[in-house]
Amino acid sequence: MALGATHLSLAFCLMALIVLVKADFDGKKEPINNILEQNSEMLTQDFCIFAAVGSVVAEAIARERRMGASLIRLFFHDCFVDGCDAGILLDDIPGRFQGEKTSPPNNNSVRGYQVIDQAKQRIKTMCPGAAVSCADILALAARDSVAMLGGIPYPVSLGRKDARTANFTGALIQLPAPFDDLNVQLKKFSDKGMSAREMVALVGSHTVGFARCVTLCDDRNINPAMKSTLKCGCPVSNNNTNLVPLDLMTPDFFDKFYYEDLIRNQGLLFSDQVLMGSTATANVVRTYNSNPALFLREFNDAMIKMGNLPPSRGVQLEIRNVCSKVNGNSIADM
Ligand code: HEM
Repeated sequence: MALGATHLSLAFCLMALIVLVKADFDGKKEPINNILEQNSEMLTQDFCIFAAVGSVVAEAIARERRMGASLIRLFFHDCFVDGCDAGILLDDIPGRFQGEKTSPPNNNSVRGYQVIDQAKQRIKTMCPGAAVSCADILALAARDSVAMLGGIPYPVSLGRKDARTANFTGALIQLPAPFDDLNVQLKKFSDKGMSAREMVALVGSHTVGFARCVTLCDDRNINPAMKSTLKCGCPVSNNNTNLVPLDLMTPDFFDKFYYEDLIRNQGLLFSDQVLMGSTATANVVRTYNSNPALFLREFNDAMIKMGNLPPSRGVQLEIRNVCSKVNGNSIADM
């Protein structure tokens, strides 16, 4: 699968090259050789970045398949809070800065940070001089995870920048919560320019990965129909690390069975099952269940759209050297 994704990236690089060459014929005066030389360097670099990230993600998933799910979620939680700006990766500085990482929707829940650090490191070793943001690495890691878990690879364009700050309260307000009813979910997605259909497609990510018992033992968060079968032994202590699959049938594969769960009233989270609560969203669930190829296509389109959510206006941007810290002066010194 990793190879498939890499080949696709190469195909996109080649397509871009053809477009550039055509642009040269169409009117630019610069000799074609110069353009080819400059652009092939750029394309080789992009290809190198794709390969570096892909290899790190493949290793991480081979070690622990769940990590693919965690990386998809990490990207979602980055993009939904003030755009895809890698804000979620910034470490807190005790007493001086509290960012998104420790905000309640993320704290002790979102995973995959060390895979992103490893990818950054591998890019430095494999592709010296490549200027790639941590936000781009998040986008590539999510794409590769989707493909490696059984989805279809999709093109990711580079050029995102990293914010020099992060938004603790933004994470609380902007991210959907497992106790949100359908209207609240629809509002949070439409605030990001996403339609109801795109929302149902994106939440289809719950075809992979797990929820913690700590989450599920809060009655507000769970589909009431799932309470009796829950093997969490609720109430649980905060350090209980037991997990329950979000898709009961195939939690390790990116497929359509999450939607079948919902149709059978077997969605795990309260927020999952309420998708069956309106005709409009329930119809999308049924459509994706009966046409898995359409789900995979529309999921990819929605991921590409989500991956283009811009950083908040006025936020200072850079390409971080280390994904968990801003460059140079610390945030508090700015
Ligand atoms: C209404 C929208 C959503 C809500 C309320 C929601 C909520 C949650 C919750 C509560 C968990 C379990 C966290 C824990 O117990 O620590 C979870 C896991 C997960 N979510 Fe969502 N989510 C939503 C949408 C999305 C979207 C749009 C994506 C991706 C594009 C996504 C991807 C995932 C994945 C892959 C996991 C499993 C992660 C792992 O195993 O590490 N979710 N989500």
